[in-house]
Amino acid sequence: MPHILALDQGTTSSRAIVFNEAGSIVAMAQQEFPQHFPKSGWVEHDANDIWNSQETVAREALKKANLTATDIAAIGITNQRETTLLWDRKTGEPIGNAIVWQDRRTSSYCDDLERSGGDILIRRKTGLLIDPYFSGTKVNWMLEHYDGARKRAEAGELAFGTVDTWLVWKLTGGAVHATDPTNACRTLLYNIHEEQWDDELLQLLDVPHEVLPEVKPSSGVFGECAADSIAPGVPIAGIGGDQQAALFGQTCYTPGMAKNTYGTGCFLLMNLGEEPRPSKHNLLTTIGWKLGEAPTHYALEGSVFIGGAAVQWLRDGLGIIKSAPEVEPLAASVPDSGGAYMVSAFAGLGAPHWDPEARGMIIGIERGTTAAHLARAALDGVAFRVADLLTAMNEDAGVPLKELRVDGGASANNLLMQIQADLLQVPVVRPECVETTALGAAYLAGLATGVWRNTEELAAHWKIDRTFEPQISADEAAERHRQWSRAIERAKKWQEL
Ligand code: G3P
Repeated sequence: MPHILALDQGTTSSRAIVFNEAGSIVAMAQQEFPQHFPKSGWVEHDANDIWNSQETVAREALKKANLTATDIAAIGITNQRETTLLWDRKTGEPIGNAIVWQDRRTSSYCDDLERSGGDILIRRKTGLLIDPYFSGTKVNWMLEHYDGARKRAEAGELAFGTVDTWLVWKLTGGAVHATDPTNACRTLLYNIHEEQWDDELLQLLDVPHEVLPEVKPSSGVFGECAADSIAPGVPIAGIGGDQQAALFGQTCYTPGMAKNTYGTGCFLLMNLGEEPRPSKHNLLTTIGWKLGEAPTHYALEGSVFIGGAAVQWLRDGLGIIKSAPEVEPLAASVPDSGGAYMVSAFAGLGAPHWDPEARGMIIGIERGTTAAHLARAALDGVAFRVADLLTAMNEDAGVPLKELRVDGGASANNLLMQIQADLLQVPVVRPECVETTALGAAYLAGLATGVWRNTEELAAHWKIDRTFEPQISADEAAERHRQWSRAIERAKKWQEL
């Protein structure tokens, strides 16, 4: 029976999951790795920590599954997107820490780009907008600030990559420097209509062509694992940025279907079909997947930078819970947040506000406010941000969404899911397998290697675990939302004051 190994390299942890032919989990391993915050608004990872943790969990998952490389039909990779790395092509050594997607250091460079009119070009060609979130300004920063980097880059000595590219490089022993369209399209350098790196954008962001990886279909063979790697000879046959992989794993194959993933951030994606329709409400148009030579599928995306990370902050920053799951009973011990609102704009605000200068805020605290109210306000805050996205998406789509599929770690939180259904006023549907990011990567790899024939076969694997129906009236939801909007307005532009 063929198995697929999915490598899921996320923002705070690396995971590896072995799936069987039925799309069920056979074994899983996970490891957190250090986060570095060298300055206000900066977030970095050590690229070697990324690789070492990923390699460790892959070996562990295979061991737990009692499988060896010969039992694995293919490897699928899914990854935190936009996080930017540069390494030496000869030694394979990173030339500095990776700059993480949450990092805001290029904020003023983004303002300059915007003032020079670059936003129109970027919007038209990439479906994105100018924000420090995306890789392009981060590569530019590295080339400007790491010693001799620009010269070495122009001489072809350096390789740029997002995390998928780094993992493929490491797995193949430096033989393959490649990425897929779902990752390339998050760099500000890739033209989503022409489906290639774009010279005008490279010029705008001052990034030399020499550093770029080759872009290959999301489902297709990228290369084989090197002899001394975790799975010698096994093909790497699928790559998808984690949010697009989750859309694929949720089997949202029909235009109009959508999912929200509650990971470090929250990412709401809707299938757009083969048409890269631009958003009129500050959402992103992004590539959903490319299966071999078949036409590319696009998606509309709303990105919220802090989702589950708000709960991590309650644990690590405030210390009011010891583990993330404790948030649910604590928040459920009060009927509501007692009038407190938490805007967790710790890394600025993403869609639809796009304000890198916004910062987190708790408002409405009174003498009677307790840790339980704050826990509740944190969960409410996550659900409100997703509701903001859905409002924008409904306006873009013209037809309101009828239900929302959910996944990711925090989707296990029943209270959060109920709050979400209440605020959205549509059913929130949780599938049996909430590891849809990894599952999506496994599906991409399995389709390319004949484990599965087509997406219809994959859609048959999808099963409901639980549906959360709205339990409050539309009027009450609207009133709550009105209060939330007042709160979020106050968090905006905080760093500018
Ligand atoms: O765009 C950033 C996103 O890919 C990060 O995902 O799962 O690490 O929150 P996650």
